Amino acid sequence: MFENIIAAPADPILGLNDAYKSETRTHKINLGVGVFKDESGNTPILNAVKKAEARLLETETSKSYLSISGIDSYGKAVRSLLFGEGAELVNSGRAVTAQAPGGTGALRIGAEFLASQGGVKKVWISDPTWANHYAIFKSANIESGSYRYYDAATKSLDFDAMYQDLSRVPAGDVVLLHGCCHNPTGVDPTAEQWKLLAELAKEKGWLPMLDFAYQGFAKGVDEDAIGLRTFVEQVDELLIASSFSKNFGLYNERVGALTLVANTTEQAATAFSQVKSVIRANYSNPPAHGALVVTTVLHDAELKAEWIGELADMRNRIHELREALVAKLNALGVDQDFSFILTQNGMFSFSGLNKDQVERLKSEFAIYMVSSGRINIAGVSLSNLDYLCESIAKVL
Ligand code: LMR
Repeated sequence: MFENIIAAPADPILGLNDAYKSETRTHKINLGVGVFKDESGNTPILNAVKKAEARLLETETSKSYLSISGIDSYGKAVRSLLFGEGAELVNSGRAVTAQAPGGTGALRIGAEFLASQGGVKKVWISDPTWANHYAIFKSANIESGSYRYYDAATKSLDFDAMYQDLSRVPAGDVVLLHGCCHNPTGVDPTAEQWKLLAELAKEKGWLPMLDFAYQGFAKGVDEDAIGLRTFVEQVDELLIASSFSKNFGLYNERVGALTLVANTTEQAATAFSQVKSVIRANYSNPPAHGALVVTTVLHDAELKAEWIGELADMRNRIHELREALVAKLNALGVDQDFSFILTQNGMFSFSGLNKDQVERLKSEFAIYMVSSGRINIAGVSLSNLDYLCESIAKVL
């Protein structure tokens, strides 16, 4: 049976990470996978997380199964972050949350639910997007189409084109939106543009699904939820896939959530029973540790304040690195204007480097980045900045 299997291509992001690990040149730089790094190149465990883990070690009394949808108080904490403390959707029952293994797990469960229960045939995805989006929806037998998003000439959102494309999406299709810190471009709609998109969803009847993996990495936890909160004012139904990989640094604990908002409490409960059936047939029930950490932090005022501070530190470090990168490229006298890097949100910058330049940076300089030219800004440090910028200047 197995002799006829054809090898799959390496994953464009995680495969690159493997290639980086086996790179032997010691001056190598990894700007590929989206993980935060400190000045010494480590991906630190947040203090708030360490403290919550210490508490759990003392107080946990069982490793018995969680329920299919996970920990209830985790779901409530997730909804408070998404909709805002005290918002109607946190407790009303119109919004229900299933703990999921990472944002990817949440997207996959959401996609299978939409295909099996919503009869969804097509999802519309921004061009460009996170490479894995296509594979996730394909696995759930949902066809993908793309809508225009990024204007490479102006290095900004092509809102008119996006709006035009989304005006043509038929009712019953799904539109996948990045909640904030668009991956890979770092370019997000403004508050006014979010409002226009939400009104369009209402008018056309397509179902919004928000991939919300970077909450807190643009401006702040509440500020970054502006798009989502605008949508829930306009539409009665939507899905959100959220992740705590980045904002809690819990990458390998796989902590995410699928939140479903329905028209009524009754419809939410019925739909949720089907979400649970999808989960049961996939991985039965979620792992506990990471979600317990998040729950412990978010339900404790002191730990939560510490987490908010640490998240701000990560966000500020990335912004400082953006400034250092642009300043150094300018100082080297490169022809191109890289100032757009300063206005992009989140971990990534869509550098504008083309495939050949990216390939040369890897082969000649041991600098790894995604072939689209996406740079993980958090992979830059003051110690590799000069070499990185000099190498970029050479391939330009
Ligand atoms: C990324 O885009 O680099 C991250 O979301 C990690 C991943 O799973 O691809």
